[in-house]
Amino acid sequence: MANEPVGGARGATVVVTDLCKHYGTVNALRGVNLTIHAGEFVSLLGASGSGKSTLLKLIAGLETVSSGQILLGGLDATRLPSERRDIGMVFQDYALFPSMTVAQNIAFPLRMRRMPAEEQCKHIARVAAMVGIEAFLSRKPSQLSGGQQQRVAIARAIVFDPKILLLDEPLSALDKNLREQTKGELKALHERLGVTIIYVTHDQSEALAMSDRIAVLDQGDIVDVGTPTGLYSAPRTAFLATFLGQANLLPVTIEASTEDDCTVSSAWGRATLPRARLSPDLQATQGKAAFVVIRPEHLTVAEGDGPAGTILIAVTVAQALYNGSETIYSAICAASGLALTLRDNRPGRSIFAVGASMPLNVDLSHGFLVPVSGAVV
Ligand SMILES: Nc1ncnc2c1ncn2[C@@H]1O[C@H](COP(=O)(O)OP(=O)(O)O)[C@@H](O)[C@H]1O
Ligand SMILES: [Mg+2]
Repeated sequence: MANEPVGGARGATVVVTDLCKHYGTVNALRGVNLTIHAGEFVSLLGASGSGKSTLLKLIAGLETVSSGQILLGGLDATRLPSERRDIGMVFQDYALFPSMTVAQNIAFPLRMRRMPAEEQCKHIARVAAMVGIEAFLSRKPSQLSGGQQQRVAIARAIVFDPKILLLDEPLSALDKNLREQTKGELKALHERLGVTIIYVTHDQSEALAMSDRIAVLDQGDIVDVGTPTGLYSAPRTAFLATFLGQANLLPVTIEASTEDDCTVSSAWGRATLPRARLSPDLQATQGKAAFVVIRPEHLTVAEGDGPAGTILIAVTVAQALYNGSETIYSAICAASGLALTLRDNRPGRSIFAVGASMPLNVDLSHGFLVPVSGAVV
C-alpha cells in the first residue's frame, strides 16, 4: 500500500544529448549527455558553478539551449515552451506567491490548466495530506516556517501529477534536523508518486542517501554517472574519490599487472589488488605511478596483529573529533608522511590524544586503484 503510486502519474524518461549552454562567453554546459529512466531518482551533484542549475533550467524550458537536444518521454522538447513540458519544479527559495494563501498557491498550476474549481479542491486536499500541510491551507506563506513553506512548494509542484519533478537544492534553507527528516520524506514521496525526479545538490550526503543514480558535474561536464554505492566504492578518479565521501590517497607504483590482478608497491609495502579494484581509466603499466583510494572506514585502530592481509602502520594523531558515535581522527603516517583521515567507532574505546602514536591496520584489499592524472591532492 505504502509503495502504491497514487494519482495516476508515472515518470517519463529524460534524455539529453550533446547539450551545450553558454551565457555570453561563459560555457556553463559543454556537451552533456545523460539518460534518465522513467521513475528514476537522479541527483546532479557538483560544486557551486558546475552547471547543475543550468542543466535543470534547460530541461524545464526556463532557459534556451545553445545546442543539443532534450527528449522528454521520447518526444523532442528542445524548443517546447516550459508550460507544455509537464514538469513540476521546486527551487531553493520556493518562490511562493506571498499574497496568495497556501491553497491558492497550490491551486495555481490547476488554474493555469483551467481545471474546474470543485476538482481543484480535491487535488489540493490530496497533495496537502500527502505532505502534511492540511492545517495551513488558509494561511499566507509569511505565516509559515521554512519547512512548511517548502512543503507547500512541493505540493504545488506535484498537484497536477507531472511526470517529471525537478528539485533545485530544495533543502538548503532548512536546519540540519529538518533536512535529515525531509530527505526521508522526499524519498518516500518519490516511491509513492512513481515520478521521475532530478534533484540538484552540492551536498554529497543528500545525493548518496536519496538517489537511484548520481551524475557528478564538474565545470559544465558530467564526469561520471553511477549508483551511490558504485560511485563510492569504485571511484574512477582521484577527483571523484575525494568529491564523493572522504578518501585517503596512497601513492603507489605499479610493479606488475596480469589479467586477474595488479601488484603495487608503496611506503607501506606491497599489495595485490584484484582487477575489479582497478579504475577503467587507469593504464596499469609497469613503473607507472597511481593512487590507492582508501576510505576512512578501511583504516582501523590496531588491537594486536590485525586480520590476515592487513598492513600495520604507525601514525601520529594530529586532531581528534569525538561526536558521540565515533571519533574522527586526522593523523600523519610516520613512515610516509601521508596525512590520513579515519574513524574509530569501537564500543567503549578511549580517545587518542593529539600527538599520541596510534597503530593502524590498513586493509588494502578494499582499496581502489586510480590514475594520478586529474588528481586533486
Ligand atoms: N544567467 C546567467 N548569466 C551568465 N552566467 C550565468 C547565468 N547563469 C549561470 N551562469 C554561469 O554559469 C555557470 C554555471 O552556473 P549554474 O548552472 O548556476 O551552476 P550551479 O547550479 O552548479 O551552481 C556559472 O559559471 C555561472 O556563473
Ligand atoms: Mg545552482
